[in-house]
Amino acid sequence: MKSAQNQALRRPGRWLLGLCLAVLVQGLVGCAAQGPAGGPPGSDVFFDRGVNLGNALEAPDEGEWGLTVLESYVDAIADAGFETVRLPVKWSGHAGSAPPYSLDPDFLARVDEVVGWILDRGLNVVLDLHHYDEMSTTPAAEVDRWLAIWKQLAEHYQHAPEALAFELLNEPNSALGDPLWNTMVRQALATVRPTNPERWVVVGPTSWNATSALGGLALPEDRHLVITFHYYDPFDFTHQGAEWVSPSPPIGRSWTGTKLTPRAGWQDWSWDTDVGYDDQIGLTFEAGWAGFYLHSAQPVTGYQTLVLRTSRAVDLLVTCGPDDGGFAVRTEAGAEGQVALGDCGGTQDVPRIIIQDGTGQPQPAFVLQTLELRGPSGTLPLLVTEADAIGTAFDLVSDWAAANGNPPLLLGEFGAYSTADMGSRVRWTRAVREAAEVHGFGWAYWEFGAGFGVYDPNTSSWRNGLLDALLDKRTSH
Ligand code: BGC
Repeated sequence: MKSAQNQALRRPGRWLLGLCLAVLVQGLVGCAAQGPAGGPPGSDVFFDRGVNLGNALEAPDEGEWGLTVLESYVDAIADAGFETVRLPVKWSGHAGSAPPYSLDPDFLARVDEVVGWILDRGLNVVLDLHHYDEMSTTPAAEVDRWLAIWKQLAEHYQHAPEALAFELLNEPNSALGDPLWNTMVRQALATVRPTNPERWVVVGPTSWNATSALGGLALPEDRHLVITFHYYDPFDFTHQGAEWVSPSPPIGRSWTGTKLTPRAGWQDWSWDTDVGYDDQIGLTFEAGWAGFYLHSAQPVTGYQTLVLRTSRAVDLLVTCGPDDGGFAVRTEAGAEGQVALGDCGGTQDVPRIIIQDGTGQPQPAFVLQTLELRGPSGTLPLLVTEADAIGTAFDLVSDWAAANGNPPLLLGEFGAYSTADMGSRVRWTRAVREAAEVHGFGWAYWEFGAGFGVYDPNTSSWRNGLLDALLDKRTSH
């Protein structure tokens, strides 16, 4: 009986009815919180095993991008075993342009309908304010309107179950940098908290929610924040042929997971050097004094030695510190060489490693077989496989969380576009999902039924390879 009652409470019909009754009786008896016992199960990861219902309600008008949410989609999502739906919504396209910036009631009712379908199936929903495009160009001019939208949404959904979270803004970027964004987050919380003191609020860093931008996010004192970030690396793979990216990366790049790449946090700033990233790294110095240059966004500490190995003897200049110059090294074919960081200009912090042509002449290709730092902190390979690069990126997220009170973390978007080959998409999707789980992050795949779709709305069927990569299961429908 009890569970039947809880079931009934989860039904959107009841929830919306509750909302209406609460509004009617508010003046007389006030509003008791109506949330059913459908809240977090006590785990740090609550908004987990999700899928983005993208390209529908965040289009200028639903349907304009080819997808209108059907109740049967939500059934399919629940039946498949997903637990969360992230629902991107273009609220800014359906609010007045002058104070009080009223939300269009018909649009709000439509979102309510979809939210109700999701909650009705016992799923969580992350209600995401998506594609507020002006926020990327003239953010300061939009803050009042954005806050007014959140005030209305917060009031409207204040009695919704705890399974509904608010995501303040998808992918703040470009003109919206850390100082303004950090202020806006505080303002939005001050707007939302009076009506939703314990609502889970999802917030992510700038730079399109990049993991590398987490350091700039100043966390407010708030016990109900979920921190989100997105992961689309290697971008040239996940966004090959993407029409909305300029220049669009060429189609044809596969993902095996075995190719080498700089570890997360290190960028390739090489010059006059052809760097062949494959299962091995081939280097060709195309001009005298050319260099293979790895730059670390966050200087690393705790190492004493740079270890390198090349396939043939090469004359090099090695730089490990902030000063230019370079320490002359002649490697031996296939033999491990060690350079003390003090010799190549390294200080306590290593901000960069430059392996430079030491001859002043172009040089034929050689293979860089080893490049790593060693010291009391252990061994840090600077070149890792693409599969391991996911883990190294997520390690940095975990490190950031550990230094910031360990908030719950949500990988709110990851996916590879349909222009990539399906085998690679499946491999990559599984690798990212598994790495998220190993790190204890909740996740939500981008997205359900459009260009990245795990589901094909034309045939009403799942793309089983992707579904299996996400949920370890296949379905026949
Ligand atoms: C954007 C989508 C895009 C996706 C992948 C999302 O945040 O809103 O338009 O397809 O990222 O690039």
